[in-house]
Amino acid sequence: MTNINTLTLTRPDDWHLHLRDGAALKAVLPDSARQFARAMIMPNLRPPVTSTALAVGYRQRILAALPAGIHFEPLMTLYLTDNTRAEEIKQAVASGVVHGVKLYPAGATTNSDSGVTDLAHCKKALAEMEKLGLPLLVHAEVTDVQVDIFDRERVFIERHMIPLLKDYPALKVVFEHITTKEAADFVLRSPANVAATITAHHLLMNRNAMFVGGVQPHHYCLPILKREEHRQALLKAATSGNAKFFLGTDSAPHAKHTKEAACGCAGMYTAHSAIELYAEAFDGVNALDKLEGFASFYGADFYGLARNTECIELRRQSWQIPASLPFDGDSLIPLRAGQTVAWKLQ
Ligand code: DOR
Ligand code: ZN
Repeated sequence: MTNINTLTLTRPDDWHLHLRDGAALKAVLPDSARQFARAMIMPNLRPPVTSTALAVGYRQRILAALPAGIHFEPLMTLYLTDNTRAEEIKQAVASGVVHGVKLYPAGATTNSDSGVTDLAHCKKALAEMEKLGLPLLVHAEVTDVQVDIFDRERVFIERHMIPLLKDYPALKVVFEHITTKEAADFVLRSPANVAATITAHHLLMNRNAMFVGGVQPHHYCLPILKREEHRQALLKAATSGNAKFFLGTDSAPHAKHTKEAACGCAGMYTAHSAIELYAEAFDGVNALDKLEGFASFYGADFYGLARNTECIELRRQSWQIPASLPFDGDSLIPLRAGQTVAWKLQ
């Protein structure tokens, strides 16, 4: 595989994406729509997308913001709260536009303050999801401030993921943006109803990237970057050809001044060159032959959706990422700003 210079892939999908709303949505949407046929749209807006009615409205705003002539399918999610009723789950499934329910432990990350304080409050909603086959997408980090930030994912497995799957053994669960060897191992030893997304940034960087030459706020995201041994475990999982692991960028735009601040926001913007960054990561371990399954097939299979049929082409061609992108009257610093990426979408 080492000398491949052109790569043709079935058009990929992004199974974890933050598009925001309003002018920000308009600024970032073309980047995703250029590469991906579909994306699972995260519901952590302010206020959050907690009902099917809100999801339908948000979906319409996304479609209205698309550049003319571009086809892109937003797959909507609901934001799980302590008060989500079983009836809401029924409506979500009946709508045909909601494809998952996102669990944010309250306080775990950006706009998670309306999230779940205790899964015990969600019994009826979870039972209905298990019954109807609507997947739970989990931000799997404990919020216990006593737990070291680098251990919050590992501890979540023991405290919440194992009990959750014991109570709802048939619930479809996506362990979102896994960052540790423990998470990859957990998904591997779980039954087929448990899968995981992996970001490009967690495949490409370890925690040193937050501190090269000084603090690097644009490399701060949640779950936080981990040690090299974890990055290696993620690369192994992503390139294994195992259908439990699929692409989810977690591209999360924040205006420059909110990242370069005394208390900076969590999130990396990778949508501008997502598939190229994944190609670089897979190429780095001579696994380009495994990229199509990961990027274009396994997510659709897990969600019970048809695979895409169109193709995209990538070339091995180094190109420079802009130093900054326009963003709602502000600017957005993309991952690799001012630096190069080794692959280019044609
Ligand atoms: O880094 C992150 N940014 N992690 C998340 O879980 C949320 C996201 C965001 O919405 O900015
Ligand atoms: Zn996310």
